[in-house]
Amino acid sequence: MPAKPKVFVTRVIPEAGLRRIKESCDAEVWADPLPPPHALLRTKAAVCEGLVSLLTDRIDAALLEAAPHLKVVSNYAVGFNNIDVKAATERGVCVGNTPGVLTDATADMAFCLLIAASRRIVEGHAYTRSGQWKTWEPLGHLGQDLVGRTLGILGMGRIGSALARRCRGGWDMQVIYHDVYRNEAAEKTLGARHVDLDTLLRESDFVSIHTDLNETTRGLFNATTFARMKPTAVLVNTARGPIVDQKALYEALTSGTIFAAGLDVTDPEPPDPNDPLLKLPNLIVAPHIASATVGTRNAMAESCANNLIAGLTGQALPAWVNPEVAHQRRH
Ligand code: DGY
Repeated sequence: MPAKPKVFVTRVIPEAGLRRIKESCDAEVWADPLPPPHALLRTKAAVCEGLVSLLTDRIDAALLEAAPHLKVVSNYAVGFNNIDVKAATERGVCVGNTPGVLTDATADMAFCLLIAASRRIVEGHAYTRSGQWKTWEPLGHLGQDLVGRTLGILGMGRIGSALARRCRGGWDMQVIYHDVYRNEAAEKTLGARHVDLDTLLRESDFVSIHTDLNETTRGLFNATTFARMKPTAVLVNTARGPIVDQKALYEALTSGTIFAAGLDVTDPEPPDPNDPLLKLPNLIVAPHIASATVGTRNAMAESCANNLIAGLTGQALPAWVNPEVAHQRRH
């Protein structure tokens, strides 16, 4: 019987996927709750055929170069900005991710942040807990209305569309979006309007970020772009932290340039607990938990296992980031 392929799994993921990985592979699972140090990850990768990575694991060219047997990197995430995909492709290494299965959970989180920041829920909770609530206040805690307002989506892919559906169907919002691609389905079914970035910033009451992190989106929300937004606007980011310049966000939130923000992602992660941004009443920060539901994480684990095993056995990965590697992949 041929030996099972050696794989390294950089964190304990749900049994829904881990069981299959353990059955099919000679799997070593990193049991610590914190990520393996990069140097250690490199030594593990050097002797493996498969790697299950998380968004906290940097899979760079040097690591790939030092891993001559590696056939597949299966990322337990839809985003893959932690992986140097070009370097993987050049070396014949397949890369997989987990699109689709976390769309609803992430869109739900974006909506949670949108409504919580607009209606100042976390601030109100702190106010109540600290005993400051003395009476019902006609002018206290005023937030933003939601019904009939304009939602601006940056990146109208699966998750952006799912948020747009919620806001259009449930709150009768007008949807505008900015994306390099037109989303005709969203235009047809939601009446979504494709606009340039300036129009998106100028017209939106809520701006929600659903684009990937790349060299054009890094720092896209900065002093200049915040200045174009409405003073009543609410910014939501469930995509990647570095798309927002956090110093500029601090200025925008303290100066009243925008009304509030809700973040599920920060730069860095975790943020420095002493960062003054975290003290602002008009900012809500969640610890990158948009996909953190039982069902979603199980589905991500299954998807991740499927990609890993396909990559190890020479099959097409069900969710293949670099299918162009097919003709030169390692066997
Ligand atoms: C992803 O999948 O990219 C999310 O950020 C974590 O689930």
